[in-house]
Amino acid sequence: MNNNFKFKSRLAWGNWRLSDALANPKNMAQHIESVFKSKIFVIDTADIYGNYGNEEILGNALKDVNLPRESYQVVTKGNIFKDNPSYPNITGHHFDNSYQYLKNAIERSLQKLQTPYIDLYLLHRLDYLMNPLEVAKVLKEYVNAGKIKAVGVSNFPASTVRMLQKYLDIPISTNQIEFSLKHLDPLDDGSLDLAIENSFQPMLWSPYARGDIFKDANINGILEKYAAKYATTPEAIATAWLLKHPSLPVIVVGSNNLQRIQKISAGVDINLENYEWYDILKSTGKILP
Ligand SMILES: NC(=O)c1ccc[n+]([C@@H]2O[C@H](COP(=O)([O-])OP(=O)(O)OC[C@H]3O[C@@H](n4cnc5c(N)ncnc54)[C@H](OP(=O)(O)O)[C@@H]3O)[C@@H](O)[C@H]2O)c1
Repeated sequence: MNNNFKFKSRLAWGNWRLSDALANPKNMAQHIESVFKSKIFVIDTADIYGNYGNEEILGNALKDVNLPRESYQVVTKGNIFKDNPSYPNITGHHFDNSYQYLKNAIERSLQKLQTPYIDLYLLHRLDYLMNPLEVAKVLKEYVNAGKIKAVGVSNFPASTVRMLQKYLDIPISTNQIEFSLKHLDPLDDGSLDLAIENSFQPMLWSPYARGDIFKDANINGILEKYAAKYATTPEAIATAWLLKHPSLPVIVVGSNNLQRIQKISAGVDINLENYEWYDILKSTGKILP
């Protein structure tokens, strides 16, 4: 199936871990304008971030951002249930991909984000009880109404993406998965292969392992080596390493720190040699056969 969804940048800014300062919409608006100056035009959020509060802060901030709506993309997600204030009678952490739950979640996201449309809507986690027909029905309704431009999943095994796609006559335009030099499973578990097979760009969360890759002496040592060679920073090299994968991933940057975001952004223009990519891979302890 033809996937026509194109990300506006290879980097996205993640709206999950907000510093106290960024929890203020005025500060967040300024921050987002600076993020755009770093050539990041995708914002990633989810209904559950900030205890179901971050979408609203983002929506208020975006009203003050001086850029037309069509020049950036908003990605949001739903289906995680964790003491959701909208459902006082339901308790317990679980996932819900039922028609009615998703419909309510999408409506609330549209309302909190104060946007006429969501560029990319993701099923946040795998719901083992998911009925793919119900998922297809609700997503199709919103795509047909123009309130969602494209759909995707997050944290789905490749087999479930393939199964769901059979029931959806709209393309699954991403699978947002954890991937970093500290979490290499997607290289071998089929998730990145399926992205290429189905022509979608994966999104990568915790791409710097929450900063831990820079605290690992082996990994950081190699990143420093190539940072010196390319006259840049370890953050830029780590970014270039992630971006080199042939699935053309989009990195969801979680930093609130603009200087770090600028360093990360510089990595978009670096094309590592294949042997350099493997050198960095081996610094994680991965043994090549
Ligand atoms: N789909 C999912 O299930 C899922 C799960 C988790 C996250 N996400 C998305 O992915 C985004 C990114 O996740 P993440 O925050 O875990 O990713 P990350 O970019 O790997 O980590 C960012 C965190 O690392 C810290 N950090 C420390 N040193 C750093 C350095 N040198 N460079 C960069 N960061 C450094 C940052 O602190 P400073 O702010 O001080 O720089 C920030 O707290 C989230 O905002 C969210 O949108 C999605």
